[in-house]
Amino acid sequence: MNLLLLGSGGREHALAWKLDQSPLLDALVIAPGNAGTADYGQNVNIDILDFEAVKKLVLEEKIDLVLVGPEEPLVRGIYDFFKADKELASIPLIGPSKRGAELEGSKDFAKQFMIKNHIPTARYETFTKETVEDGIAFLKTLSAPYVLKADGLAAGKGVVIPHTLAEAESTLREMLLDEKFGAASSKVVIEEFLSGIELSVFVLTDGINFHILPEAKDYKRIGEGDTGLNTGGMGAISPVPFADAEFLEKVKQQIVIPTIEGLKKDNIDYKGFIFVGLMNCDGDPKVIEYNVRMGDPETEVVLPRIKSDLIELLLGVASQTLDENEMEFDERAAATVMIVSGGYPDKYEKGKVISGLDEVTESIVFHAGTKQDGDNVVSNGGRVLSVTSYGNTLKEAVATSYESIAKLDFEKKYFRRDIGKDVGA
Ligand code: AMP
Ligand code: GLY
Repeated sequence: MNLLLLGSGGREHALAWKLDQSPLLDALVIAPGNAGTADYGQNVNIDILDFEAVKKLVLEEKIDLVLVGPEEPLVRGIYDFFKADKELASIPLIGPSKRGAELEGSKDFAKQFMIKNHIPTARYETFTKETVEDGIAFLKTLSAPYVLKADGLAAGKGVVIPHTLAEAESTLREMLLDEKFGAASSKVVIEEFLSGIELSVFVLTDGINFHILPEAKDYKRIGEGDTGLNTGGMGAISPVPFADAEFLEKVKQQIVIPTIEGLKKDNIDYKGFIFVGLMNCDGDPKVIEYNVRMGDPETEVVLPRIKSDLIELLLGVASQTLDENEMEFDERAAATVMIVSGGYPDKYEKGKVISGLDEVTESIVFHAGTKQDGDNVVSNGGRVLSVTSYGNTLKEAVATSYESIAKLDFEKKYFRRDIGKDVGA
């Protein structure tokens, strides 16, 4: 089969690495890809939000299946574009329809969906420019800290957690009246603050059947001890020690099954991954958010823990026969540590030559933001490399990633030295 993978991050490098292990794969095209994905196929530099350009590529390369990495093409309706196009309609695209993608594209939609389907989540209300004063009244019914979320996609920056009522009020006004996050904050969800430890659970569904994939914990803040600005993710581990069988069963019964049933009830076409961001509130899971794709860097630890053939699974999704696919997991632990450009997530430089890539033997180095520049691989983003290792324990996996990182270098590299520490790794 010929596959097209859309995206260019560490997640896509990990997907390419996994797809490449399948005997069913003939050719892989990655658009736009990075220096790492080029090891597994042909990178083609197109704008993946330009669906006509994607169509041209699919037809030219005789693509049999398309896998979408990031959320934006999904939220903009790439699935529906394929379905509506005579030449593309028979080519399966893995990812939800535009309506399904609203689970990530609109926080208000996601919250309504959860409430309607009795899925545990924080209490909330949604406000617009016209109802800003009601929003302030609602804030007064909550206690600090306050959680304010821009309704639409805001590149991971749309959530603000002020610690005082005065700050919360001014943030709400900025979001709604000054369009702090552009159109994304024309609606704002205000919700109750949940305390607990976060983790993520991943689901692959064909719209009828589903498999739950290994869970993961992401490290979102730039600084050690979970301090400083939010990032796309500085590292991840899997399994998550506190997510025991009892907790995961609650996730399945209270969240995953009602989510799939809710999609079915609303006739929402959903064939793809669901990323459920959770808070463990004293042993009870509550949903913080849905994403309609795999996580990054969570994919870099989740996929290594799946033994089953990914293309077989994706074909099961396309034909809605996922119940016939067996899932096999790797019992080992996996950890990934992200190496980023100094200054990220604020201003940082690109184009730094990366050394040591050939010297790493005990870890898998997934490229997050890199490109080939002549004979060199150079940095091409804030997050640059995601260094994944296996271990018999999380502690071993994390230690191996740090040994490998010592061999990798580029000017102003930065990484957190405490990935997994909070859970004993
Ligand atoms: P989101 O973009 O919805 O994942 O939110 C970004 C981050 O804000 C999450 O990963 C949490 O750390 C935090 N967050 C979001 N909602 C809540 C909540 N209701 N209570 C506590 N923290 C939250
Ligand atoms: N690591 C969080 C995300 O992919 O959204």
